[in-house]
Order: sequence, then structure tokens, then C-alpha cells
Amino acid sequence: MSSSPAGIAPTLRTARAADLPILQVLESLFPGDRLSARQLRHHLSNPHAVMRVIETEYALAGYSLLLTRSGSQAARLYSIAVAPAFRGQGMGRQLLDDVVAQARARGCNELRLEVRQDNEPAIRLYREYGFQFTEQRPRYYQDGADALRFRLEISAS
Ligand SMILES: CC(C)(COP(=O)(O)OP(=O)(O)OC[C@H]1O[C@@H](n2cnc3c(N)ncnc32)[C@H](O)[C@@H]1OP(=O)(O)O)[C@@H](O)C(=O)NCCC(=O)NCCS
Repeated sequence: MSSSPAGIAPTLRTARAADLPILQVLESLFPGDRLSARQLRHHLSNPHAVMRVIETEYALAGYSLLLTRSGSQAARLYSIAVAPAFRGQGMGRQLLDDVVAQARARGCNELRLEVRQDNEPAIRLYREYGFQFTEQRPRYYQDGADALRFRLEISAS
């Protein structure tokens, strides 16, 4: 089978139950505060959650989890991850573009997130994307690491 040298562009879609084993593997890459299989399954049918995956021709490469709340226009990017073999190819940014589109489509005008203060790749991704730092939360994570909070205005232009 042949394809272009650059391969087929990755595509984004909503997660489904068959993705759960791979989503669990992606969650296991986090140093702590991981979503359990049960929580992931719950979010598949949670009306306030939007779970999306990015996949290549060969594999599911990453995912995002966006949470919304009734009566709030602030959405929360709860999780985003790209499998190590696929990092550095723009998929994190593509997932983020999609997260913003999903939040906008649900009437949100703000995206919030927390990130470990030692997570340089993610912090750089968010800063380059235009997120603004808002505050530091000491000992936010289970292992005692601090979190940095960021926000992005996403009002329709
Ligand atoms: C953060 C993460 C999602 C980025 O995914 P990715 O597909 O590698 O990111 P992209 O290729 O789209 O890169 C986009 C930007 O992210 C930043 N970035 C990505 N990898 C980086 C690295 N190793 N070091 C520093 N910055 C990095 C850069 O700003 C990059 O832009 P540039 O290439 O123009 O410099 C990925 O590293 C990951 O899954 N990490 C583990 C899970 C995690 O920590 N998630 C965030 C939780 S808050």
C-alpha cells in the first residue's frame, strides 16, 4: 500500500468505548492524578464532557478531555496527551485547536487549565498558543507538585 511521503494527515473524532484501553495507556503516562478506567468510561457518556482523539493511519496518537458546567461559559481542559512516538509533530497543537472549537461550539468564551509547574513542553505549548498565566496553586497534585493555572479567551471573533 502506498501513501504520500508525509503520510495521511491525522484526523480528529469523538472518543468511543473501543478507544478506552488506549486512552488508559495514554493516561498512564502522567506521573500521577490519572483518570481511572471507570472515570474515562463515565466521561464517554457524560453530557458535560467532550473526549476527542487524534488518530493516524496506523494508531490512536492522542486525546483530549474538555469539561463544561451548566450555567458557566468557562470550559476546563482537564486532560490532553500525545503518545511519545507521535510527539513533536504538531498533534498537541491540533488537539488544542479542536478543544477550542469544541468549547466555542458549546457557547464557552473561556478555556481554563492546570498544569504541573515542571511540565515544560505543555507550558510552552499553552503559552505559545496564547494562554495567560493566572495563578500558582501550591501542592495541587497528589505528589505535592504545584500547579500553574492558565486561561484563554475564546470568544467568537
Ligand atoms: C504536551 C504535549 C501534549 C505536546 O504534544 P506534542 O504533539 O508533542 O506537541 P506539538 O508537536 O503540537 O508541539 C506544539 C508546541 O508544544 C511545545 N512543545 C512540544 N514538545 C516540546 C518539548 N519537548 N519541549 C518544549 N516544548 C515543547 C512547543 O511550544 C511546540 O511548538 P513548536 O514546535 O512550534 O516549538 C505532549 O508533550 C504530551 O502528551 N505530554 C504528556 C502529557 C502532558 O503532560 N499533557 C499536558 C497535561 S497539562
